[in-house]
Amino acid sequence: MSLLSVRDLSVTFNTLDGKVHAVNGVNFDLEEKQSLAIVGESGSGKSQTVFSLMGLLSSNGTSSGSVLFNGQEILNLPENELNKFRANEIGIIFQDPMTSLNPYMKVSDQLMEVLIHHKGLSKREAFNESVDMLDAVKIPDARNRIMFYPHEFSGGMRQRVMIAMSLLCRPKLLIADEPTTALDVTVQSQIMNLLSELQQEFGTAIILITHDLGVVAGACEKTLVMYGGRVMEYNHTDQLFKQPTHPYTKGLLSAIPRLDLNEEELNTIPGNPPNMLNPPSGCPFQPRCEFAEQKCSDSLPDLLVNKDDTKRACHLDSDKIISSSREAQL
Ligand SMILES: Nc1ncnc2c1ncn2[C@@H]1O[C@H](COP(=O)(O)OP(=O)(O)OP(=O)(O)O)[C@@H](O)[C@H]1O
Ligand SMILES: [Mg+2]
Repeated sequence: MSLLSVRDLSVTFNTLDGKVHAVNGVNFDLEEKQSLAIVGESGSGKSQTVFSLMGLLSSNGTSSGSVLFNGQEILNLPENELNKFRANEIGIIFQDPMTSLNPYMKVSDQLMEVLIHHKGLSKREAFNESVDMLDAVKIPDARNRIMFYPHEFSGGMRQRVMIAMSLLCRPKLLIADEPTTALDVTVQSQIMNLLSELQQEFGTAIILITHDLGVVAGACEKTLVMYGGRVMEYNHTDQLFKQPTHPYTKGLLSAIPRLDLNEEELNTIPGNPPNMLNPPSGCPFQPRCEFAEQKCSDSLPDLLVNKDDTKRACHLDSDKIISSSREAQL
């Protein structure tokens, strides 16, 4: 049994202009202690996918499908039952720690509150455990710094506090939604390394959400590429980098800045992500795809599962995409 099993997950928002189909039939599994990256451009449905399973959708949103956590259905659970899962079983960290940290409360009080509330620890136990967790996320001089307010920490240190807070109850799954986007590149890689270390140390499974495929290499075993609220490709991360079989993945890969190329040579995928109020016909990527044929706008490609459990939604022959990637490298 998988730790997390997501089937046919869809999220729709009602707006004054009509229905926004933000997530459309997403499928994936995550095993215990495994790490999965969800990658795609802005608006591709990454956050709403995980918000729906945590019961965090905006009030105009509804979700359908199935999300099994350790075999138990958690999609659309009532708030009081979901609360047991949050923190205890599934931790989440957001792009901006200030959205989750209270600026008027000392970090010590915020961390201790979680342990007192969820684990029933005494104040002293909660304090010691909180200091230990700040140590684990490598905050220097944790015993003193725990008395600081959030704004007294640098951005990177604040993100470490958030990570510590999300791990306090030892969840089996940690969801990190763009945890490093607001940080500079050096701090970004420190946080990514920290997440990998913590995954080993605590045996936590991780879902890392990012629009930057560049941060995924070496950080996550598997990668799910999303576009227009749909899964485009799913593979082992190293295989996906070596041999992308979907034109969108190929486009994302060629947009990663490379040190050996001038900035001017940086590729971007031409065009813009689809308007989800009025998505294009057929494959959502078809209007921007350099390989698109008539059939791509005629019908939506199914997400096909290969024998080795990799997945792909594209009408075109994967060999065609692979061979064109090789040519581009030569
Ligand atoms: N409350 C809402 N009402 C209407 N549309 C919404 C609402 N929340 C999100 N959306 C739409 O859902 C789609 C998917 O949004 P989502 O937040 O999942 O994107 P994302 O992939 O996380 O992008 P980013 O990298 O910018 O965070 C977007 O088109 C977004 O505009
Ligand atoms: Mg997002």
